[in-house]
Amino acid sequence: MTYRFLVTTTSLGQGGRQLLAEADCTVDYLDDANDVAEVERRMSSVAYDAVISRTVALNAKAINACPTLKIICKHGVGVTNIDVAAATERGIPVLTTPATNAQSVAELTLALMLNGARRLPFFQQEVTAGRWTRTGDGEELQGKTLGLVGFGEIGRRVARFARIIGMQVAFFDPAAPTDGDFDGAQRCETLEALLPLSDVLSLHCPVTPKTQLMINAERLTLLPPNATLINTARGELIDEDALFAALQSGQLRAAALDTVTHEPLAADHPFRALHNLIITPHIGGSTPQALDAVAQSAARQCLAFLDNQQINLSACVNPQVLNRS
Ligand SMILES: NC(=O)c1ccc[n+]([C@@H]2O[C@H](COP(=O)([O-])OP(=O)(O)OC[C@H]3O[C@@H](n4cnc5c(N)ncnc54)[C@H](O)[C@@H]3O)[C@@H](O)[C@H]2O)c1
Repeated sequence: MTYRFLVTTTSLGQGGRQLLAEADCTVDYLDDANDVAEVERRMSSVAYDAVISRTVALNAKAINACPTLKIICKHGVGVTNIDVAAATERGIPVLTTPATNAQSVAELTLALMLNGARRLPFFQQEVTAGRWTRTGDGEELQGKTLGLVGFGEIGRRVARFARIIGMQVAFFDPAAPTDGDFDGAQRCETLEALLPLSDVLSLHCPVTPKTQLMINAERLTLLPPNATLINTARGELIDEDALFAALQSGQLRAAALDTVTHEPLAADHPFRALHNLIITPHIGGSTPQALDAVAQSAARQCLAFLDNQQINLSACVNPQVLNRS
């Protein structure tokens, strides 16, 4: 039995391509990785068995337009671009690829932290403009406290990096056991308890009704003066108007975002004018190593499901549909 796949971007890592080729699958790619209409068009005109979903929206219209669709796998772990409710309504499992890109995202988080602390984008701009500016207020991170919101695959890796450069680590994660071994990190009972400790606050939790807009104006005031905010998780976790105001007023020293609520960021978005904000275009998992591991995991899981083999239940975000079938 061969299957037809849609990958909602322009390519797939070698490991995944190879697995799908060995299984004799037909694989289609988008011409434009950001074109929602192209996804809808293809889903309504081709009998796909599986979709490997990258970052462009996979909305209810697309999901409902493809009656043959049996499985969706997110290329990564954050499923905010997928209408999971629509998939669930149709009895289609939505899988993720846990832990496959965590190292790359954790390394980017460390890079953003260090870049923010030493203001590297500012100095690079100065040198590019022909100047040799040596004044600046970069700072050491040693001795400061890193606060992590979410202590899963990525958060734990970031904690290890931070300890190596002499930072203390505290975290809030409602799923962490009260008596767990956290390798020296301090567990906080609530987000409100974590914020005043966090010279650098870094977000590593999924978007849920509880976490959406969790970093709002009121919570930003609970951070210490001169704090830095890092977000490599999802834009929806932050009230972006409140973040803009806190950066503009100097209440926050700096922020670094790998993700924003509406991607791609609008060309005239006010964030682009801020000098104390670093933005990268959602590249956390975009290393060849991570892309390969994610692609392999996504292809393997879709094939296992289509061939009625055992799948990793903890990778399914709507396991109720598995019980139903
Ligand atoms: N920038 C990128 O390219 C990129 C790539 C991969 C993942 N991500 C994002 O990073 C996030 C974390 O990924 P991960 O692999 O560590 O996932 P994970 O599932 O291993 O860890 C997430 C942790 O968040 C915790 N959590 C859930 N609700 C919470 C809440 N209300 N407050 C605090 N913590 C809460 C969970 O208990 C879990 O331990 C993902 O949700 C995804 O959105 C971004």
